Formats: sequence, C-alpha cells, structure tokens
Amino acid sequence: MAVIASKCPDIRVVVADIDPDRIAAWQSGEPPIYEPGLREVVRSAIHRNLFFTTDVAGSVEDADLIFVSVNTPTKTFGEGAGKASDLQYWEATARTILANAKTHKIVVEKSTLPVRTAEAMARILTSKSSAVCFDVLSNPEFLAEGSAIRDLECPDRVLIGGEASERGRRATEVLAGIYARWVPEDRILKTNVWSSELSKLAANAMLAQRISSINALSELCEATEADVAEVACAIGMDRRIGREFLQASVGFGGSCFKKDILNLVYLCEHFGLQAIADYWLQVVRINEHQQERFARNIVSTMFNTVVGKRIAIFGFAFKANTGDTRESPANYVCRRLVEERARVVVTDPQALDNARRDLADLGDAVTFEPDPMRAVEGAHAFAVLTEWDLYRGMDYQAIHDRMEHPAFCFDGRNLLNHAALFDLGFNVYPIGKVPLTHL
Ligand code: UDX
Repeated sequence: MAVIASKCPDIRVVVADIDPDRIAAWQSGEPPIYEPGLREVVRSAIHRNLFFTTDVAGSVEDADLIFVSVNTPTKTFGEGAGKASDLQYWEATARTILANAKTHKIVVEKSTLPVRTAEAMARILTSKSSAVCFDVLSNPEFLAEGSAIRDLECPDRVLIGGEASERGRRATEVLAGIYARWVPEDRILKTNVWSSELSKLAANAMLAQRISSINALSELCEATEADVAEVACAIGMDRRIGREFLQASVGFGGSCFKKDILNLVYLCEHFGLQAIADYWLQVVRINEHQQERFARNIVSTMFNTVVGKRIAIFGFAFKANTGDTRESPANYVCRRLVEERARVVVTDPQALDNARRDLADLGDAVTFEPDPMRAVEGAHAFAVLTEWDLYRGMDYQAIHDRMEHPAFCFDGRNLLNHAALFDLGFNVYPIGKVPLTHL
C-alpha cells in the first residue's frame, strides 16, 4: 500500500488494522517489520497521502477500493486441519465491509486464498438486500520478503482476476489503471477470478518444487561426489530451465511455500484428485527430509553425540534480509539439536526477538547472542542456516581460535568459502558437495 501511495500522490491510501500497537508503529514512520527500503517508502508518503488508522469501519465507509490483506494461516482444527486455510479473519472482514459500506465498493482480494474464495466473498457481500453493490477482484501478491519494495516497484507481472461481466470488466480496468501508473501495460495480466487465485498457489508450488528438486539432487551429489553447485549451474544454463531458485539449501521456509502447497493439496483432495495431491505433497516431504538430513548429519559427523556440546547457529531468519522466522528451517534444526542435548546458541542480525519467541518452550537449552564472535566462544561447531552477507566477511581465523577443536562447520546455505575454511583447520560440511575434512 505504501508503494501505491508513493507512486500515486493524488490517491489517498488509508491502511486500517485492528491492532493499535501495529498502527502506532506505522504512524511513527518506524515499520514494525524489517524490510530493506520500506522505511524510506513509508516516510516519503506518510501524512501526505498515506495514513494509518484503527478505524476499520470508517475506512470502509470512505473508500472506493478496498484491499483485503488479512492473514489466512493454515487451519489447526476441524475439517482440513493442517492443510486448508483458516478463513475466519477473512470472513469477518467481508462482514465488516458489508456492515459499513454505504456506496459502491471494489473489493480487492490480496490475501492468498484457496480458489473460489472471491466468489464466496461476493456471496457474503450480496447476502443482505441493500442498494450497495460490490465488485470483487482477485489481485494476488507475488512479492518476496527481503526484496519486497523492488518486487512491487518493478514486478514481473501484476495479475488481476475479475468477472467477465461488463461491471466486472469496469472494476478490473479501475485497478489496472492504478498499476498502469508505474507498471508497463504488457505486464498487467487480466484473467478470470479462478485463474488468478490458482496462479498464486501454482507459482509458489512451482518455485518450491524447484528447491525440493535441487535439494533432492543434493543428497545424490553427496553420495556420488558430484557438486550440486556445478550441477545447478549446468542445468540452469538451459534457457528452458533458467538459473533462479536452484540454490541447494537446508530447506525452504517462509510463510507462503508450505502453506500454499498444502492448500493446493487440500484442493486436489477435495476434487478427488489424489494422484495430483500426492505429487505436490512430495515437495513438502522432501523439504522436511532435507532439514532432518542436515540435523542428523551434524550429530553423526560429531562422533554420533552432541550431548553437552555448544553449537552456534548462524542465522535464524528463513532467508537473508528479513527478520521473519516463520517456517524457518533453523527452528527445526535447533529443536533436533536440543533433543540430542546439545547446548545451542543462536545468533542473527534481525531475527533474534522472533527466535526467542519461537524457541521459548526450550528454556535454558538455547541461548541467544547478537554477536556471532561471542556465539562461537567455546563452540564445537557452527552451522549456517541463513545466508546473511555478514557471515561471508567474518574473521574465520579468529573464530577457529575461539572454538573447541576439532572445529566443525555445517554450511546449510553453501554460503562460505569452504576451501579457505578447510585451510584454517575447519572440518567443513556443505550441502550437496564432498565434505572437506582433516579427520
Ligand atoms: C515467496 C515467493 O517467492 C513470492 O513470490 C511469494 O509472493 C511469497 O513466497 P518469500 O517466501 O518471501 O517469497 O521468499 P523466497 O525468496 O521465495 O524464498 C523462500 C525460501 O526458499 C527461503 O527459505 C529461501 O532461503 C529458500 N530458497 C530460495 C532456497 O532454498 N533456494 C533457492 O534457490 C531460493
């Protein structure tokens, strides 16, 4: 929304949220989340044409266009638990809109939802016989965390799903007209509502599938002495495959991939397409396998026991340049190491508060240390779980000196210079490559 405000100074953008603390943070110009460039964009438009409020009802009444961006977490109860989306917040929002709208509104569905929810939204909005009419559009968000501002300012495409009726087309044109202020026309794609909703799930499933594919190959590389980075480079040079999303890792995390795939699986099952459901579920299963494999490798490499050993975790965010830790592989790996009775110390430049909250139930078994040089003090191993640039440039000689010996490095992101670490005396265990070991 801040990007729309900054690109369209003549449009009044009001962000409404029921959480007063969050709104207060935005109002102060200090976003409550870490995202490179976000603070600057917010500050460029705040109090000019960008406003924040907790008055949801009033904002609905004033608006011509309403973007619905409420969270739709995976359901934890009842039918579809563990797979389907929990739509309670989304439905409550639809009802708030219905209760407060006095004039025509275009309602834009931004949250990622299972297909056919725009239709359900339209049904709720027309459930009361009133003079007010609504047009519901689907406009899924494709931004990635850490590069959100760039992705919004220069998107590969903007997708708008609308009804085929004359009114639906008019509503689509209104929204397309806003994006056209800064996005080239040929990147604004207009589809039917279901295609638009399904495309979001499908895009995330395909991206995650590439990671699970390369991660599956990484295990084969380790068994056969091939190098996964060389394999990824060779296959990525085929223009039909492309280079992106072929970086082998400890596994993918984030709020979207797993959730969206499970949604897709649930949809397939709903329509009786078990073979298709099984196919996509395997992408998630390989991701779990990769995380478990990484944790197990730490234990088996360190002479089959980590009891009482200090292990430093470099990075807890699910990827670099964000403080977000949702579904982060680091969470799983830390838990497994604690289960094996290791003393885990977590360091991260942006995600320590979230890490503390996520691992609160583990008590004293995990400690948190902002300074990586102190985290490695007396450690038997360090493991890279997030590809922060910071970790590339550190003084690994000094780190080796501070650690117990033999010193182990487990690089879950293939981020570091493994040959150089080996020369310093480390035993190095990358992903999908032959380990470099003095043992
Ligand atoms: C993703 C989609 O990219 C975005 O289009 C969608 O709108 C939301 O979901 P995001 O979750 O922010 O975005 O991050 P992304 O960059 O896609 O990374 C997801 C996970 O995959 C991270 O844990 C990342 O480290 C991992 N990853 C990514 C790999 O392990 N290897 C890769 O080659 C790329």
